[in-house]
Amino acid sequence: MDNIWSSQAFRGELPAGFQGNLSWQSPSNIALIKYWGKKGKQLPQNPSVSFTLSNCRTVTSVAYERSNGFHLDFRFDGKENPEFAVKIEKFLLDNLASFPFLTQLDLHMDSHNTFPHSSGIASSAASMSALVMCLLDLERQVSGEKDMDLRKASCFSRLASGSACRSVFPVMALWGKSSVMPESSDEYAVSLEEKIHPLFKTYHDSILIVSDSAKAVSSRAGHALMEGNPYAEARYQQAKENTKTLFAALGLGDLDAFIRITESEAMQLHALMMCSNPSYVLLKPDTLNLIDEIRHFRKETKIPVCFTLDAGPNVHLLYPDKDAEKVDAFIRNVLETYCVGGQWIADQVGQGPQKLA
Ligand code: DP6
Repeated sequence: MDNIWSSQAFRGELPAGFQGNLSWQSPSNIALIKYWGKKGKQLPQNPSVSFTLSNCRTVTSVAYERSNGFHLDFRFDGKENPEFAVKIEKFLLDNLASFPFLTQLDLHMDSHNTFPHSSGIASSAASMSALVMCLLDLERQVSGEKDMDLRKASCFSRLASGSACRSVFPVMALWGKSSVMPESSDEYAVSLEEKIHPLFKTYHDSILIVSDSAKAVSSRAGHALMEGNPYAEARYQQAKENTKTLFAALGLGDLDAFIRITESEAMQLHALMMCSNPSYVLLKPDTLNLIDEIRHFRKETKIPVCFTLDAGPNVHLLYPDKDAEKVDAFIRNVLETYCVGGQWIADQVGQGPQKLA
């Protein structure tokens, strides 16, 4: 059996004429402690911590009907999308032992993102967690179960895309075994909502779009590059230490420590890419200009803004709601000029996946 849930799989026969529809939306998340490097079956080399977002979401709808075998068709933005379809079909087939009822269903899936195509954001976290919420809801329909186990949703989201396992929980999540929480696990994320100072529940993430092109290196290839990286072991140790320091800062509302660790993690992620073989430089000149401006603004105004980066050139500007008015003016007056087409996305900490139908 693959994991602790496979043994509980529903194995009954579906009644003739069984059919229905369901729909879920699920958000993206932004990591503060970065997951970069994996082992075994999608297990992380170090713990990671993220804010769950609210506006950058994937909405996925599934129409299902009883059939004599498994069949899937998948549309993105109303159009057939063979690339995504293959990925989703592979994920479902890989997990048939846990969801054997799929072999009795035709599935028609439709998916779209709430953020613009041209933003350079390719959120597997949102899309894969939305898919898994649909899958577990479908399991509920066929088995008659009432409850949805979020740890299970997180575990299967992880198997689809590592970072997706954190999107299942509201506000903040920790994925990966860490001494800071005995219930933490490499298999699934856990919620940090009850562990953090209320200030962090008000956080904004304004995503400053420096480039709208597709990623130069896929996450999968990026994680693989850690295997030959001479700094890999030191990095994993550092991430474990940073998790402890950040966890304490989150509980206390210690913004100095929060900023120090968050920015250091962003820089380490890119430093690791630069010293991989082959090496990647994903930062653009305007990424560095934005970082300079943000640090200067923080020094001058004492407003606790900081940044983090994904595996790309866009800058995520993080700040508490109490400073939103002043930071908004700073974005419009200064930062927007470094954004491609003046583009940025206003997002903030959110409530996790929601059932729509
Ligand atoms: C830089 O979750 O996209 O965003 O597990 O191969 O699907 P796969 O990778 P993915 O990696 C995310 C990497 C990151 C950091 C993070 O979100 O923690």
